[in-house]
Amino acid sequence: MKPRVLTGVRPTGALHLGHFFGMLEQTVLLQSEFDVFLMVADVQALTDNFFQPERVRESVLAVARDALRCGVDPSVTTLFIQSLIPEIAELTVFLGNLVSVARLESNPTVKSELALKRGVFGDSVSFGFLGYPVSQAADITVFDAVCVPVGEDQLPMLELTRDVVRKFNRLYGVTLVEPQARLVSGARLRGLDGLEKMGKSLGNAIFLSDSSDVVGSKVLGAVTDPLKLRLKDVGHPEVCTVFAYHQLFVDAQGIEAECRSGSRGCVACKKELAGTINHFLEPMQTEYSDAYLLQVLLEGTKKARVVARETLARVKRAMKLDYVEAA
Ligand code: TRP
Repeated sequence: MKPRVLTGVRPTGALHLGHFFGMLEQTVLLQSEFDVFLMVADVQALTDNFFQPERVRESVLAVARDALRCGVDPSVTTLFIQSLIPEIAELTVFLGNLVSVARLESNPTVKSELALKRGVFGDSVSFGFLGYPVSQAADITVFDAVCVPVGEDQLPMLELTRDVVRKFNRLYGVTLVEPQARLVSGARLRGLDGLEKMGKSLGNAIFLSDSSDVVGSKVLGAVTDPLKLRLKDVGHPEVCTVFAYHQLFVDAQGIEAECRSGSRGCVACKKELAGTINHFLEPMQTEYSDAYLLQVLLEGTKKARVVARETLARVKRAMKLDYVEAA
């Protein structure tokens, strides 16, 4: 049996390059060595999209489609829908007893998300959103995952999960598996506008499903070195978003030298990048029908649920909640 890996994506829109480099690429690479579970985290998506359930619903299929397009192979990887595994919600309740509110309030990822979501929560965060790291600990532990590939922003979640597991095992006997984070190398992909994060809702992302025209116009609008106004001005690639993107795809030393010496104009540089990105996305345009995607998700869910049920039985035994077994 291969060791299990779990990762999740929130279905709040189509997937973008940030998702690809942040987790999908890793997930695809891990498929041969690990028993990969890829969860479409619709319950988690609702924690900050509770007012737009139709968006979450539509995005579930979009996420599945983009995952398959990137090379997630449903014959080896278990792709499934979080809300169809009620054992995750059950375990969340039990784990909630082992996490303090202060710990959640000081979680750096929760804090930075809240700062971006003032429009949703204002000054008063919901119980559900504040608690999503607990639910994420349940996502991971209900499947006995030994490893979770994550970007840097998810490290606090993993740390919390590990602490919760240790506490659970200490209190109730060794029951849950303590997962390791597998940090996906490479800095987080910034947005085309130079903002720190490429975000579906921030309007600064290149989606895996973008057409070549759309990629072309998005890249032309990207932010470059503000001090390089004319073609012949010397550039500072270290501050340029377009340069950061070139580096993702190619050995960019030549580009860097030309930019620094003032022999490369930004428009040409952007056109070259758009070409590179389009070439990269070209093999990812396979069409899948909604019916097929749903079938993949439901089959994956069936498999995932078997594992989750077993874990919950173990958890309930450990917590003295095994009334049915005792009867
Ligand atoms: N929080 C992750 C994100 O925002 C999604 C996620 C949900 C996840 N459950 C998970 C990631 C479990 C890793 C493991 O992208």
